[in-house]
Amino acid sequence: MERIKIDIHKEKGRISPELHSQFIEFLGACIYDGIWVGEDSEIPNYHGLRKDVVDALKEIQPPLVRWPGGCYADTYHWRDGIGPRDRRPVTYNENFGTFEPDSNQFGTHEFMEFCRLIGAKPWFNINMMSGSVAEMREWMEYCNREDSTSLAAERKKNGSEEPFQVEYWGVGNEMWAGGGTMTAAGYAAEYRKYASAFPSFAKLGKKQEEQPKMYRIACGPDGNKPRERAEWTREFFKELSRFRQPILDGYDIHFYNWNIENPAQKETEYGEEDWYRVIDGCRELEEVILEQYRLVREGLDSFREAEGPFPSPEKKCDLIVGEWGNWHGAAFGNRPALYQQCTMLDAVTSALTLDIFHRNCEKVKAACVAQSVNVLNSLLLTEKGQCIRTPNYHVFDMYKVHRGGEALAVSRDSGGEEERINGFASRKGGIIYVNLVNTDMVSSRIAELTFTQAVTYAGGEALYSGDVHDCNTADQPDLIRKRVAEAPVLHGKRAQVILPPASVSVYTFALN
Ligand code: AHR
Repeated sequence: MERIKIDIHKEKGRISPELHSQFIEFLGACIYDGIWVGEDSEIPNYHGLRKDVVDALKEIQPPLVRWPGGCYADTYHWRDGIGPRDRRPVTYNENFGTFEPDSNQFGTHEFMEFCRLIGAKPWFNINMMSGSVAEMREWMEYCNREDSTSLAAERKKNGSEEPFQVEYWGVGNEMWAGGGTMTAAGYAAEYRKYASAFPSFAKLGKKQEEQPKMYRIACGPDGNKPRERAEWTREFFKELSRFRQPILDGYDIHFYNWNIENPAQKETEYGEEDWYRVIDGCRELEEVILEQYRLVREGLDSFREAEGPFPSPEKKCDLIVGEWGNWHGAAFGNRPALYQQCTMLDAVTSALTLDIFHRNCEKVKAACVAQSVNVLNSLLLTEKGQCIRTPNYHVFDMYKVHRGGEALAVSRDSGGEEERINGFASRKGGIIYVNLVNTDMVSSRIAELTFTQAVTYAGGEALYSGDVHDCNTADQPDLIRKRVAEAPVLHGKRAQVILPPASVSVYTFALN
């Protein structure tokens, strides 16, 4: 039996809803077929956007969606994606073996409509590799300018009278690789130029707190490379701090849980050894967050204090994980490009990853799962007219209760046994949400929860399947689904629960 103690009065910080954000890009079948089918499609749609996908995402309300990439952002020209759709240029995408023309039917307005329908805020990533400062500024002006400029008039002509008020802007993507194979110092020097050119969209006569916000996100390191990632962050801040102001609000690291040793192995076929390797792999992200948080703080501290009449620099920058998820070897050979099926292995690692974010909510402010539909660690898969909710989708759905809650201190004792259960708890007023992930591939496990105050059980949900290799398909779209969790045996401050193998459970308790 594993014992988990939940300290109801020890709050560790607020769980930012943005930790449940998502990422979409024209890659494989994420956008075309996955999100966009066009107005004339037989597949039911809202002005060209798949109804089933929009409706499914609306239910889990992703707080923030990042677009147009990813690597695709590194060569994307926003002007290709505006104006009458039949007059948009056709470009081409070779990224990750997509090898398909981009009809540019899904551009700025379509993305904004998608965000509006699912209730998400947009995060635009600008093209720093083949684009320019001028192109970035014009995109910002087109999106956000309220006054009667030519670019604002063009946006209005294209259907949006109101400015989009896009707040989150990423400057470049993976600049250490597909974004131009830059050095960190080279990127920082270039970044400064872009970040300094952000329009403020400030209004005369308004107080500072009422002014529009423009949130600048710099490209952080490849989280999978320990030595290089530390060097990247040190070098980046060293170069940036040669000048007075940090000019950044967020720092975006990427972390894929690589499982690519055997590309011939299907993502639904694995043995016990593979299972635990993938589970251990996703846990490395916690170390990356702690290290990068420390390096970002060190970097901010290296900015010089104010001299003369100038104010001291604001030494603040959020850590963001802009792309995360399992990347199985099979994805390289699958069509559409980077398509992956999703089993309880992915659901368990997604749950563990969200637990890492929640536990470290004081250190990491936003995170985007890669990607929403049909690519890698996806939440939804589409097959012609069908939209299949993957087990990952259900994890996000079940974990929604933690958004905006206070993370609680959780300690554990497995009594010398190997620890297989991961536990996390949050609190909203008098309600406590506890999630338990049983990472044991074959055996059910018992967990004993001890609260520092007596509680009453108020319900629970569990996600598991009969066979750990199961997945949801067009024929069996609900093979893995949420079920009512077995109720715990409760004695005042203690609750005992039985967790099925390879399962994710979320319980609700009310304080007595
Ligand atoms: O998500 C797939 C790709 O992975 C993205 O385009 C890129 O940023 C990353 O390498």
